[in-house]
Amino acid sequence: MTYLPDFLDFSASILHQALRPGDLAVDATLGNGRDAVLLAESVGQAGKVFCFDIQEVAIHRARERLAAAGLLERVQIFRAGHERLTEHLPPESQGHVRAATFNLGFLPGSDRRIITRPETTLAALAVLLPFMAPGGIVSIAVYTGHPGGQAEGEAIAAWCGSLAPTIWRVARYEQVNKPVNREVLYLLERLGEKQASAKCLPQTLA
Ligand SMILES: C[S@@+](CC[C@H](N)C(=O)[O-])C[C@H]1O[C@@H](n2cnc3c(N)ncnc32)[C@H](O)[C@@H]1O
Repeated sequence: MTYLPDFLDFSASILHQALRPGDLAVDATLGNGRDAVLLAESVGQAGKVFCFDIQEVAIHRARERLAAAGLLERVQIFRAGHERLTEHLPPESQGHVRAATFNLGFLPGSDRRIITRPETTLAALAVLLPFMAPGGIVSIAVYTGHPGGQAEGEAIAAWCGSLAPTIWRVARYEQVNKPVNREVLYLLERLGEKQASAKCLPQTLA
């Protein structure tokens, strides 16, 4: 055991802490279903996880993993790009999603040329934000080692930096002494109404 967790373990622990039984969550990149299992366990029987992937092979593998864990009932899987999220999430879930995760790049054990891309990732993030509940967490795991990964990382960094600090607290976690193929985790927290308005007050009143 180490005190500083691997970036995906850190993401998992924050997502798990953000979720309560009955909550709504989004897995924007279903892949092999590891993240979906974590989210489905965290939302309990009364919760729901909306999952997206563009590859049939990913959906097949994830379904098997979720079925083996007895969690299929808690997920809704869409074979669709995450940028089309608004077409699939119920409109009444706006403002009620407690956790969302983007685990970017390619599907491990599959065609490495099929990757997430900055245009669609940023489009998905933009349409996701209104769905996030106050106190909700968005986790974005970025891989820079594959072709296209560096550019996607730069686009995500710029987008994260542009979010209003009165509404979003954004943090970055990375192992800065990793010489190559660095992974970067961005964590966004939607500030609650109280926290957001306190931020706008002079220091003495906040
Ligand atoms: C690193 S993998 C995800 C890992 C996964 N979360 C897990 O727990 O195993 C990235 C996934 O993103 C998917 N993907 C690529 N572009 C996408 C898009 N526009 N919308 C949704 N998924 C996409 C890929 O097919 C791939 O399965």
